[in-house]
Amino acid sequence: MCSRESTMAKRAILMLLPTLLGIALTQENFYGESLSFRSLQKKKDGTVQVSFYYRENGRGSCKDQLSYRCEIGYCNNTEDSKPVLTDSSSSAHEQWCQSEGQARVAPLNNHSLVLKDTGCCWPPNVHGKTKWMAGGKLDLGYRSDTHTYNKIPVTATVAYLRVPQNCFTKLRLLAYDPDGDHVRCLFASTSVDSKVTLDENECTIKATGLLDVGLHVFELVLEDHPKRDVNLTYDDGSSSEKKAFNIHSGIHSTPFSQIYLQFTLQILYPAHNCIAGHVVPQYLLPTASHGDVRQASVGERFQLHIHAQASETKIMDFQISGPQNMAKKMTTGTLGNASVILNWTPALNDLYRLVPVCFTAETYESQSEMRCVIVMVTRSSTSEGKAVVKCSATQMTVSLEKNSMDGIDKNWLNMNDPSCSMSSNDTHIMATMSFNTCGTKLESHEAESGMDWDKNLARDFGMERPFMRPRE
Ligand SMILES: *[C@@H]1O[C@H](CO)[C@@H](O)[C@H](O)[C@H]1NC(C)=O
Ligand SMILES: *[C@@H]1O[C@H](CO)[C@@H](O)[C@H](O)[C@H]1NC(C)=O
Ligand SMILES: *[C@@H]1O[C@H](CO)[C@@H](O)[C@H](O)[C@H]1NC(C)=O
Ligand SMILES: *[C@@H]1O[C@H](CO)[C@@H](O)[C@H](O)[C@H]1NC(C)=O
Ligand SMILES: *[C@@H]1O[C@H](CO)[C@@H](O)[C@H](O)[C@H]1NC(C)=O
Repeated sequence: MCSRESTMAKRAILMLLPTLLGIALTQENFYGESLSFRSLQKKKDGTVQVSFYYRENGRGSCKDQLSYRCEIGYCNNTEDSKPVLTDSSSSAHEQWCQSEGQARVAPLNNHSLVLKDTGCCWPPNVHGKTKWMAGGKLDLGYRSDTHTYNKIPVTATVAYLRVPQNCFTKLRLLAYDPDGDHVRCLFASTSVDSKVTLDENECTIKATGLLDVGLHVFELVLEDHPKRDVNLTYDDGSSSEKKAFNIHSGIHSTPFSQIYLQFTLQILYPAHNCIAGHVVPQYLLPTASHGDVRQASVGERFQLHIHAQASETKIMDFQISGPQNMAKKMTTGTLGNASVILNWTPALNDLYRLVPVCFTAETYESQSEMRCVIVMVTRSSTSEGKAVVKCSATQMTVSLEKNSMDGIDKNWLNMNDPSCSMSSNDTHIMATMSFNTCGTKLESHEAESGMDWDKNLARDFGMERPFMRPRE
């Protein structure tokens, strides 16, 4: 059963390349923004294209607040689609909205891409902050450990974070790195509330005392640092080395990327109790855990179920930070239970995205903790690459038709073990691995019991879990 042609299960996933863009906001009442990137696309002509998505938070109106432009010298703006409203409040009691727009750029520099813009205005807030800054800086080097371009940390928040003053202790943010790098979260600007601390390594904001009632503005930057020394090679042939981040000494080289994240936190008047599940909603199973990674395929429906309970009140809505065309359907039960099902069918241009999806459950008095998951979008099962698998007693050879995988490059296929080599000719990409190398984990009893070869093979080949972490 080991030698047959099979559709290579899904997921040859590719990598992302960072690029440079500029973000320009003109309108007032900026409530925050986040960026996420699609895996880098190297086009047939050898040029790279960077697609990214920007989510913008608002109250009341979220239309066309954000538009971006390339900074001269760093990239060419090739496409910018109008932002689409992705979530808005259903009640008049609290207002929020979020929109998502998409842009594509072509880098004009082999080494890095810088995206930066500042604007005005944050809404009135406790610190009187007005100007904001958005964007990021991305390294365009090819990594020696993953044999791909660096992947950018994934982050987002819902549009409107709010918590009663006496209930706020901490806020965990999403800081997922697809390469398994160490992510550091830093305050981007200096004026920070003295009662607020940031756990850099956990990307968690903590209060050391009661925060003032009112709107708090947060401007963060996320950085990804290698856990081991990594060499970077650039398209112009040059290279550089990045030293491993030392979590104890804090010694580090410049990060691969720096991505800005901004949001607001509304500190509400104190609630009569903060017990999770009473007026502050509590999640119930099968709600995903914070930081879970889920997989979705192009053209196939993806679902996420969220359940919550607030027994002393009523859950009026769920806030969602998600991609365009993600539908939410809420059901209210008894005893303060409520659930929402998110349905999303990724389109072809969502392929290779790492989509952050964040959510909260809303009551009149409060909000549940925010949780975020990462949705990896892979190729659909109907348009998979054609692979031929041959097994002998000790090794397995996989060859994959290049034609069947648009724009694929052997360098983009990740193996569990970077020392495992691959080769290619004009038409195929080949990899040979013994059963105890290359991270293959085939168990003979599974094979005998008729396991799904395609799936397991693909997984072990790094196709189904393309964002594997380098070995520690
Ligand atoms: C970038 O845009 C300029 C002006 O439109 C054009 O001349 C140049 O060829 C473009 N470069 C790339 C790499 O697309
Ligand atoms: C980086 O390149 C240098 C010079 O080629 C080499 O000595 C070093 O071992 C490389 N480091 C890694 C982590 O590959
Ligand atoms: C990258 O470097 C190569 C070789 O020096 C050059 O031909 C190419 O135009 C550069 N590309 C960009 C985007 O700067
Ligand atoms: C509400 O949630 C609790 C906790 O899971 C569960 O035991 C109970 O059956 C739910 N009640 C309703 C009416 O759905
Ligand atoms: C490339 O290698 C594959 C697998 O060994 C083989 O089937 C194919 O004929 C080769 N193609 C060329 C053009 O050599």
